[in-house]
Amino acid sequence: MVLTRLKAKSEGKLTKQICRVVLDHFDKQYSKELGDAWSAVRDILTSPSCWQHAVLLNRFSYPFELEKDLHFKGYHTLFQGSLPYYPKSMKCYLSRIPHRMPSERHQIGSLKKYYLLNAASLLPVLALELRDGEKVLDLCAAPGGKSVALLQCAYPGYLHCNEYDSLRLRWLRQTLESFIPESLENVIKVSELDGREMGDAQPEKFDKVLVDAPCSNDRSWLFSSDSQKAACRISQRRKLPVLQIELLRSAIKALRPGGLLVYSTCTLSKAENQDVISDVLNTCRGVLPVNIEEMAGTCSRDFAFAPTGQECGLLVIPEKGRAWGPMYVAKLKKSWTV
Ligand SMILES: C[S@@+](CC[C@H](N)C(=O)[O-])C[C@H]1O[C@@H](n2cnc3c(N)ncnc32)[C@H](O)[C@@H]1O
Repeated sequence: MVLTRLKAKSEGKLTKQICRVVLDHFDKQYSKELGDAWSAVRDILTSPSCWQHAVLLNRFSYPFELEKDLHFKGYHTLFQGSLPYYPKSMKCYLSRIPHRMPSERHQIGSLKKYYLLNAASLLPVLALELRDGEKVLDLCAAPGGKSVALLQCAYPGYLHCNEYDSLRLRWLRQTLESFIPESLENVIKVSELDGREMGDAQPEKFDKVLVDAPCSNDRSWLFSSDSQKAACRISQRRKLPVLQIELLRSAIKALRPGGLLVYSTCTLSKAENQDVISDVLNTCRGVLPVNIEEMAGTCSRDFAFAPTGQECGLLVIPEKGRAWGPMYVAKLKKSWTV
């Protein structure tokens, strides 16, 4: 297969190259699924110079000086307290211009002060409404951004971070070590299971479960450096929903009756988003959709959304000045009587 490489539309130095085969594939699929909205989304996804980086402060190594500096640079806080269950302990700063703070180095024995992330990644974490003392499972946890964010929201009684890929598991351990104090180690467990086995291993154990599923990861696929791998991924893309549904079924088993589950992906693909959730709602007994529209209403200043046709699902699409996402978030509840 012949793969043409396109230069990313970035100003100054060109550091990333777009993989033509992936772009063509996305053009075909997303122009059908998103209609006219796709061309604006495509412009952002193919222009890394427009990408933004939010700054999540670490409550365990609080950087007062940095906070002042961020205000000075024109950053503002996400939500600013308007979401009823927005935890005061979580502080995330956003800038409308695509400025990027330098990444901090990992240093043994000292905690990092902030985590750089796509601000839309906080939506699945916030949708979990984590409270102090709860037992929470992060089923697909590496490299650990959402585990770190969960710990900014509350002090769980137990946080289980699972990751199947052993290389990525090392990355997850390093993230936790860089952001979380030793005093919390006794409430955090890290495991290396296939997430599809978790439900049988730990049935009805958790109050909250996050399934931040393996998915097409649109941003990174567009810049695949190995074109053969990219072509192979695309041909195997159809298999992802099967894995995602199996992970969700396992997560539902691991959830206690009455518990909350959040499913998220960083792709625009309907097959991996709405269709996965519809399948689970249609085939799993005792699983209910939870209306998440209030969240979209509250954060429309910072995020742009595409319609999903579901009250329990949101799709964040990148837009100029609000270049966050893609991020699909769906919220489900396990009923008390199954
Ligand atoms: C989207 S990433 C998770 C990102 C992470 N939640 C964060 O915020 O940093 C999905 C992860 O799922 C892992 N994964 C893939 N298959 C899995 C499986 N069967 N069970 C558990 N994790 C799996 C991948 O290795 C990948 O690290």
